[in-house]
Amino acid sequence: MKHRIDVLHGINFDVLGRRPAAHYGGLTLEALEVRIKRYADELGLGVAFSQTNHEGEYCEALHNATGDGLILNPGAWTHYSWAIHDALELTGLPAVEVHLSAVDEREEWRRVSVIRDICVGTVQGKGPDGYRDALALLQERLER
Ligand code: DQA
Repeated sequence: MKHRIDVLHGINFDVLGRRPAAHYGGLTLEALEVRIKRYADELGLGVAFSQTNHEGEYCEALHNATGDGLILNPGAWTHYSWAIHDALELTGLPAVEVHLSAVDEREEWRRVSVIRDICVGTVQGKGPDGYRDALALLQERLER
């Protein structure tokens, strides 16, 4: 059976193409999703995307998650949203935290992640390729 991964983009990802290219590569969200979809196809995984700039909606997307695994890039919420931590915990699904930039090498406040302890892995600083690593990690876990 083909597993499906829900990819949840958080705040400011709708304007990804306008954000500092030095950190985020200048890719639009649409282009990023095309890349992720290609990686998923190569791995034989299904993928579903969502994006919101509203924290409560992000939590509700977690409440309603129907996939087999999750990839989360909550953007700045990563660093302080205990609401997202709790909603993620509730899903009981394997989740990987992804960041396009190397958050652990940037400002002090970005080095904190309130979801890391309940994720099965974290990929950061690899740009769009980080999503391929996250998909592969989830696939390996789901087929174990
Ligand atoms: C980000 C890193 C966060 O610190 C930042 O607030 C983002 C994007 C990343 O993908 O590198 O919005 O999650």
